[in-house]
Amino acid sequence: MDRTFHLPTCLLRPWRVDDLESLVRHANDPRVSATVRDHFPSPYTREDGQRWLAHAARAGRDTSLAIEVDGHAVGGVGMIAGEDVHRICAEIGYWLGHAFWNRGVMTDAVRAYSEHLLRDRGFLRLEAPVFAINPASARVLEKAGFERESVQRRAAIKTNQVIDVWLYVRLA
Ligand SMILES: CC(C)(COP(=O)(O)OP(=O)(O)OC[C@H]1O[C@@H](n2cnc3c(N)ncnc32)[C@H](O)[C@@H]1OP(=O)(O)O)[C@@H](O)C(=O)NCCC(=O)NCCS
Repeated sequence: MDRTFHLPTCLLRPWRVDDLESLVRHANDPRVSATVRDHFPSPYTREDGQRWLAHAARAGRDTSLAIEVDGHAVGGVGMIAGEDVHRICAEIGYWLGHAFWNRGVMTDAVRAYSEHLLRDRGFLRLEAPVFAINPASARVLEKAGFERESVQRRAAIKTNQVIDVWLYVRLA
């Protein structure tokens, strides 16, 4: 089932093949890739975008949604469901094109998406790991009802820098 959410600053909706140009324009930015996992490509090519859109179509439903502003897909929010005994949990991730930062877009997106996962999908626990060099993302999560549960010390390496990871959670 496709999901679309109309929010004050943006629309959350399934990815479409015609998002390719806008996806690549906004994702191909070291300011975006600097604070996400290395599997987010940098540089971000057309082929990366095509792979992503094919993956999003296969994953279906609401596993990953585009964030649309002014008619263009300018970011994304998605989740990975836990497995086996962790199937009551989901991890969320998100990114937004730099031109749209600090307008409250991601706060709207994370809040609505989290509430959907807890209410409609039955998850009991949502997790969001945040690099300790990313206070804007931590702030988004706090505004969206998450709390910092733990600090995972020296848990990640990004661009050769070993960093702590803040684990944010929101419980049903
Ligand atoms: C992090 C990110 C998602 C934030 O999205 P956004 O739409 O700009 O977020 P919002 O506008 O909803 O909220 C940002 C908040 O962080 C605050 N903020 C911004 N930069 C900050 C900084 N350097 N230190 C502290 N707070 C900061 C803003 O003031 C705002 O808080 P406020 O409303 O209390 O003033 C966006 O910058 C992004 O996509 N970054 C690259 C990818 C990424 O880091 N993804 C998350 C991985 S965990």
